[in-house]
Amino acid sequence: MLNQRKPVEQMTEAEAAEELAFLAAELSRHDMLYHGKDDPEISDADYDALKRRNDLIEERFPALIREDSPSQKVGAAPSLTFAPVVHARPMLSLDNSFSDEDARAFVAGIYRFLGRLPDGSIAFTVEPKIDGLSMSLRYENRRLVTAATRGDGTTGENVTANVRTIGMIPQRLPAEAPDVVEIRGEIYMAKSDFAALNAEMAAQGRPLYVNPRNTASGSLRQLDAKVTASRRLRFFAYAWGEMSAMPADTQLGMVETFKAWGFPVNPLMQRFFSADELLEHYHHIERERPELDYDIDGVVYKVDQLDLQARLGFRSRSPRWATAHKFPAERAFTRLKGIDIQVGRTGALTPVARLEPITVGGVVVTNATLHNEDYIRGIGNTGEPIREGRDIRIGDMVIVQRAGDVIPQIVDVVMDERPEGTEPYRFPTSCPICGSHAVRDINEKTGKVDAVRRCTGGFVCRAQAVEHLKHFVSRNAFDIEGLGSKQIEFFFESEDETLRIRTAPDIFTLERRQESSLTKLENIDGFGKVSVRKLYEAINARRSIGLHRFIYALGIRHVGETTAKLLARSYGTYEHFGAAMTEAGGFSGDAWNELNSIDGIGEVVARAIVEFYKEPRNLKVLSDLLEEVTPERAEMPVATDSPVAGKTVVFTGSLEKMTRDEAKAKAESLGAKVAGSVSKKTDIVVAGPGAGSKLDKARELGLQTMDEDEWLALIGG
Ligand code: IVH
Repeated sequence: MLNQRKPVEQMTEAEAAEELAFLAAELSRHDMLYHGKDDPEISDADYDALKRRNDLIEERFPALIREDSPSQKVGAAPSLTFAPVVHARPMLSLDNSFSDEDARAFVAGIYRFLGRLPDGSIAFTVEPKIDGLSMSLRYENRRLVTAATRGDGTTGENVTANVRTIGMIPQRLPAEAPDVVEIRGEIYMAKSDFAALNAEMAAQGRPLYVNPRNTASGSLRQLDAKVTASRRLRFFAYAWGEMSAMPADTQLGMVETFKAWGFPVNPLMQRFFSADELLEHYHHIERERPELDYDIDGVVYKVDQLDLQARLGFRSRSPRWATAHKFPAERAFTRLKGIDIQVGRTGALTPVARLEPITVGGVVVTNATLHNEDYIRGIGNTGEPIREGRDIRIGDMVIVQRAGDVIPQIVDVVMDERPEGTEPYRFPTSCPICGSHAVRDINEKTGKVDAVRRCTGGFVCRAQAVEHLKHFVSRNAFDIEGLGSKQIEFFFESEDETLRIRTAPDIFTLERRQESSLTKLENIDGFGKVSVRKLYEAINARRSIGLHRFIYALGIRHVGETTAKLLARSYGTYEHFGAAMTEAGGFSGDAWNELNSIDGIGEVVARAIVEFYKEPRNLKVLSDLLEEVTPERAEMPVATDSPVAGKTVVFTGSLEKMTRDEAKAKAESLGAKVAGSVSKKTDIVVAGPGAGSKLDKARELGLQTMDEDEWLALIGG
């Protein structure tokens, strides 16, 4: 894509300036896709070529070096360029439904949660799911004060200056609007505007943009608001954050109010009462899709009544009262050029298909997952044949499927087009990185052979160690700005002892080791004085860290973010957690039982954590790490003024005023922990009719017990 461009030697200064501006924006966009979204659009080679061109131009025109030039940063993270904004209410994502059955199950689940018969009495709204970027617009005293991207849901980026250039977004609200209003919705680029922009790019011989979504995102993240202004971005309002007063009591009523206040809202939004009607409107929107001037990737169903939404509440990342029903994935044919084996953090060997590049649903795909060795052989997870037993071979014509933000996968092969002389793929039985044996474990519970082959090298395996470090510094773990994949690999490989990072504690000793070193990081290609200082600042900023991030960063198998948060909330401090995990080492006794009684932690997870704490090497890394880093006390539950905040509650017997799920969700929203079994650590046992052994045990232990009415009186609901 670069060879159509003018050779650097022939460039005028003006052309060079323009090109540098373009490269800065383009490279920062790719950095964001790579680091922020894990969804690169271009190959590493193409990325490097862009970077080289940037260097060449800068070499010829040093006066033109920009502050935001990729040569000036380490692992450029565009998020640094915009100030952070903590959302007054978190910006959540949506649960997905992929079929008509999923959608019906969503409706049925709502009735079940609320303990109502599925009699068609609950209203739902249906609206398109816009494929753009979510945005939160905050108005105070009817003036737009802040526009922020979603970010990680808690903290976004302040893009107010850029958003002010979007003509469709009101700067002022009418007099009847309340004092604090947060409008949420989607910024997008119209398909027609995207086509016009690309026509312009083509006329100038410049590379084309890939799709409207990424272009909208890139346009919004410009440091120069004039660039954003030239891109004609648009907006649909569909949700809200903080509101000092509620202007309506239904979803539809809220959106109609937004429309009256001057916000664009989607004309296809409608309200229905039955799953059949929801699906009918879904299929209607699906048929309209090609005619719409904006990309959509499904529809969203929401419970219309806001009081019911409040009762339904939230799961960790998404509301229980809404779901996104996605359109079926798009597919395309292409040739399988090769199969690479990637080794992950837990040693899993994952086969990755290298493809002849192909556009699937507007995005160029060059890699796709092949899941595991059985999948390649035509065998499914339960041992039955898939694809009628057809195996996948290098050289095959394959069908690639891409669904929204899911990693593309190979779903089938075209046997008629299989070239002669191909052979079944031979999956390696040793790790391609460290050479250790790679084995398929036998599941203790089911006695079945695991589909995943794993490297047995553990700490010896470079790939596992490097992936561990990448996980440790990743966004939801330590989130160390300036330590991206490339930097981790560089530090890991370094021969110099004052530069080498092999385990997490090494990150925190780097600056000290560098002080007396002759090999200064700032003199190394790709790092400069400023970026090194920023790197140390970013590292030091994490010497104190949230307990859940700390636990998540350890990379214990099966411990994702949600589990880490549960653990942090349950144990409160690291000392407490670490001691309990060590004590649970025998897989029995109080500490073990307590771990297992945490609602949401099953035996497989509990075992994985305790096993982690039995491995001496892990303990060494942990104690070194704790010399450098202090995990904070876990954030106390949201509603500290509730009498049940911080208490451990067990529900037993049948409840009559609400369902078990609703009771649990409500208790958690008030800051209580809900456990599945009674122990010394239990504070309150709520017993309904039919309560048996749990109630007996509670009495035996002398715990506080109460019935449902007493509980409701206690929580004031
Ligand atoms: S409602 C609390 N409605 O989809 C739920 N989201 O996958 C708030 N999106 O982050 C979201 N169109 O950016 C909602 N009509 C729509 C939407 C929509 C697109 C995006 C939004 C959200 C993502 C979740």
